[in-house]
Amino acid sequence: MATYLEQLETPVPIVDLDRLAFNLDRMAAYATLHGLRLRPHVKTHKSPRIAAEQLRLGAGGLTCATLREAEVMAEVCDDLLVAYPPVGAARLERLARLPSTVKVGVAADDGDAMPALAVAAKLSRRVFDVYVEADMGMHRVGLATPEKAVALARQVSDLSSLNFAGLLFYPGHIREPMTEQSQPLAVLSAQLARYLEALDDAGLPAKIVSGGSTPAAWRFHEVHGVTEVRPGTYVYNDRTTANIGACDWDDCALTVLATVVSVAVKGQAVVDAGAKALGREPLRAEGDGYGALLDRPDVVVSRMSEEHGILDLSKTAWRPRLGDQVRIVPNHVCIVVHLFDEIVGVRGHAVETRWPVAARGRGPAYDLAPEGPSRPRAV
Ligand SMILES: Cc1ncc(COP(=O)(O)O)c(C=O)c1O
Repeated sequence: MATYLEQLETPVPIVDLDRLAFNLDRMAAYATLHGLRLRPHVKTHKSPRIAAEQLRLGAGGLTCATLREAEVMAEVCDDLLVAYPPVGAARLERLARLPSTVKVGVAADDGDAMPALAVAAKLSRRVFDVYVEADMGMHRVGLATPEKAVALARQVSDLSSLNFAGLLFYPGHIREPMTEQSQPLAVLSAQLARYLEALDDAGLPAKIVSGGSTPAAWRFHEVHGVTEVRPGTYVYNDRTTANIGACDWDDCALTVLATVVSVAVKGQAVVDAGAKALGREPLRAEGDGYGALLDRPDVVVSRMSEEHGILDLSKTAWRPRLGDQVRIVPNHVCIVVHLFDEIVGVRGHAVETRWPVAARGRGPAYDLAPEGPSRPRAV
């Protein structure tokens, strides 16, 4: 096993353990300070080891997108929210087969999905929490009006195996620099107030109001009525998060360690991290390229093939040599994590630990037991 960064085979995602610990602590402290329940989204790290640390620091539960994430996280957490539409027989069957010790919640925006969800809950002999999802401006999923949210909440309340747990939204459309978020957050507060009032008036108050993202994470206490936040990216951060100002450049905990493999073409250097290591993710903030060097943020990955990343040297006098290692801060860290089986934990130049990205992929995390009379069947 490699002891130092220089001995690692590249490309490889490495995590600065001190920065990771700082990021975890900071978000836990923010949530405590503002009386918000933290339910981090695990899609960023996909690792029970980090989830366990989030829970140890006070998180009240976890958020997942895929059923594999939920199955893996059930090892460390007994309160899971699958913030993804509960649609399709295979998805419902896997929901129903989550360990009976786990409290399961789902986000929903369509009454047509409720009868099958209710059957899945019944077959697994439990009650699913349903969070009615509202569209607050991202226009991805979610109901567009308070009236529609009330109608779905009522439908859920009328089904004995479902529990109307609250209102949920994802403010993924708020990507302004942190200092310019006052206006979109005020709009969000006003929209949310209308949903909460309509639910109150219908006698269906939302006990939990779940929102949150990393770009808006540090100002979410300004959104009135929110009780729970679900940031995910904050554990590692990335170039987009830093450019938005929701973290400092030095808070980027995960970088892709790469090796310079060619300097033959003038004005550039080629590293062994291409699209299959960095993902072809645009920077969802000011700037260009697919990643930037940790030590030289003015050097960006300007072009990529599958296994080649082209470093643009036009803005620097620095000229790397063949075999040099560089650390690349990716534009979108969640995509990078999903591209690797394992993460390497480092302190300075020393390799300290490794952990698997256990929830990557989509297949079941464990063998499904043969169906017996008490096991839920496909619904
Ligand atoms: C439903 C939902 N909640 C929370 C998050 C976490 O947001 P972020 O990645 O900005 O931390 C996401 C991210 O995709 C999401 O889709």
